[in-house]
Amino acid sequence: MCGIIGYVGKDKCIPKIIHGLEALEYRGYDSAGISYFFKNKIKTIKAEGKIVNLKALLNFNEESYLGIGHTRWATHGKANKTNAHPHSVGKFTIVHNGIIENYSELKEKLIKEKYVFKSETDTEVACALFDFLYKKNKNILETLSEAIKILKGSYAFGIICNDDANTLYALRNTSPLIIATDETGNFIASDVPAILKFTNKYILLEDNEIAQITADKIVVYNNNLEIVKKNIKTFSESYEAATKNGYEHFMLKEINEQDKVYKNTIDYYFDGTIESLEKNFNFLNKFERIDIVACGSAYHTGLVGKCLIEKYANIPVNVEVASEYRYKNCFYNNKTLVILVSQSGETADTLAVLRKAKNDQIKTLAIVNVVGSSIAREADYVIYIKAGCEIAVATTKAYLAQLAIFSLITTYLGYKNGVIDSKELTTIFKDINLLPNLINKTIANYETYFKIADKIYKHKQIFFIGRGIDYAISMEASLKLKEISYINSVAYQAGELKHGTISLIDKNTPVIAIATDKYLLEKTISNIKEVKARGAFVILVSNTTFKDHFYDEFITIADVHPILQSIIIIIPLQLLAYKVAKNNGCNIDKPKNLAKSVTVE
Ligand code: G6P
Repeated sequence: MCGIIGYVGKDKCIPKIIHGLEALEYRGYDSAGISYFFKNKIKTIKAEGKIVNLKALLNFNEESYLGIGHTRWATHGKANKTNAHPHSVGKFTIVHNGIIENYSELKEKLIKEKYVFKSETDTEVACALFDFLYKKNKNILETLSEAIKILKGSYAFGIICNDDANTLYALRNTSPLIIATDETGNFIASDVPAILKFTNKYILLEDNEIAQITADKIVVYNNNLEIVKKNIKTFSESYEAATKNGYEHFMLKEINEQDKVYKNTIDYYFDGTIESLEKNFNFLNKFERIDIVACGSAYHTGLVGKCLIEKYANIPVNVEVASEYRYKNCFYNNKTLVILVSQSGETADTLAVLRKAKNDQIKTLAIVNVVGSSIAREADYVIYIKAGCEIAVATTKAYLAQLAIFSLITTYLGYKNGVIDSKELTTIFKDINLLPNLINKTIANYETYFKIADKIYKHKQIFFIGRGIDYAISMEASLKLKEISYINSVAYQAGELKHGTISLIDKNTPVIAIATDKYLLEKTISNIKEVKARGAFVILVSNTTFKDHFYDEFITIADVHPILQSIIIIIPLQLLAYKVAKNNGCNIDKPKNLAKSVTVE
C-alpha cells in the first residue's frame, strides 16, 4: 500500500527520498511524488505510474535538504497525477497513508470556507484542514493537535509548511510511521526498508503522537502537546537481507529461504522437549474454542490451523476473513481465544478485529512477523514467526512460518488433550527435526515443477482440488498462482466439484490435485478420476505412490506426520506459480493492483 519517506539533514534530500521510495515499491503503488524546499519555497513534482517516471523529472543535484516523498496506491480517486501525493493547500504540503473517513463532511465545511479542491482525494481535504486551523492559531503544533481531534479514520502524515523551512512534521493514527536517524540527519518513513540503507535505528510513532523533526533534533509530543520520551529500537536485519541477493526475484529468494525460516521459527519455541512447548504455549489451555481471523494468505494458514487443531487437539475452531468478522455478530465468550494471523501486523481489517475483540474483553493472540507492529503490540499474547523481512507482495516464507507455528500449537494441545500419545509425539518430534532438510530437498527439485509449469502456463484457467487439509492448502496454492500470473484459478473441495464446477472442465484443463491425507485418499482419487474422465490435464501432488495412472504429471513429496505435511506440500506449488508467472512475463514481486501491507479497509 502507499509509502511515505521524508528527510531533513546535511545531505541533499532528493537522492535519499528516491532511494526510500524505491525501497517501498514492494508495498504496491500506482503514482509517486516528492515535495522539497528549494530556496525557501516548496517545489512539488509528481508522476503517474512507476518511480522511473518521477525520476525522469527530477534534478538529483538540487540544493534541497528537506523533503517528503510518497508512493500512492489509489483509494479515493483514480491513479493519476492530480490525485498523486504530495498535496498542497495554502501553506501546507503533505503526504498521507490511510483513509480519512469523515473527509466528505470536512470537505463540505471547507468549501464553505472558500477552499477549492483540485483532486478527488481525502488527503487534500486533510491538508486544507491543516491550513484552515493554522490560519486561526498561527502555530503548527497546535494545528496538528487540533486536527487529531477532528480527523476520523486511519492516517500517517508527513507534513511541511511554508512558514518553517527547517522542519518536518509527522502525525499518526493507526497507519504505521517511524522516525529514524543517521549521521547526516533524520527521516520519517512508513516502513523500515525505506531507511535500512542509511540506518537500522528507529523510533515508532504511536497513535495520536506528533513529531517535530529538524536536521539535528527530534521531538515527539502527545495530543496535549506534552513531550513524550521515546525508546530507540534496532531493526535486526541488514540492508542485504532486504535485497535480492543474486536472485532474479524477491519471491524466488524468499522461497529459497524457507528451510532457514522454518528452523528459526521452530527453534525459537521448541528445544526438542514437550516442556519447551509447555513453557511457550500453556496459556492456550484456558480456552475451549478458537476463532482464527485474518486476510489473504494468513487466512489460508488459519484454514490449515483449523484442520489440525480440530483433528489433533479436539478444540472447535472457527476461521473467518477479517473484513467479514469485524462487522458480524461474534458468538465469543471468555473461553474463546481470538487468534489474529498477520505477516505485517498492520492489516487494517485484522487490526479492527483485534480491537473489537479487546473491546468485548475477549482474549487475543497475534501470530505476527513484524516485531513491534500494531497487532503485535495490542494483542494479549504474541507469537512471532521468524520469517525476516518479506518483500515480495505474494507471501511465501511468512505463510510457511505461520504453518510451522500452527504445527507446534497443535502438537502441544494434542498431547495435552490426550489425542496425541507419547509414541506419536516422538514421531512428530523426529519429523520436526527432519523438516529443514526435507524443505531444502523439495526446493532443490524445482526443475520438475518448472517443467510442469512450462506445459500449463498458457491456459486461461487452472483448478486446484483437495479434501480436508489438502483443500486448505489448495486455497493458498490457487491464490499464489492467480495473484502473480493473473490466470483465473479456483480451489474446490474435491467432493464438491460435481455440484457445478465440473462443468468447467474441458479437454486439457489443468487440474492440480493434492492428495496427502491418507484417511481421505480413496475419496480424493475417485474425484480425480472424475475430472480425468472429462479430459482434464491432471497434476497430482502426493506423498504416496500409485500403480494406477490416473494423472498426467506427478509431483512426489516427502511423507511426514500430517501435522507437518502442509509445510512440504506448499513448496512445489509456490515454485510452480512462480514459473507460470515468469513464463507469462508478469511482474512477479509487484503484481498489478496488489499491495503487501493493506493498511486501509
Ligand atoms: C495482502 C498481501 C497478502 C497477505 C494479506 C494479509 O493482500 O498481498 O500476501 O496475505 O495482505 O496480510 P498480513 O500482513 O495481514 O498477513
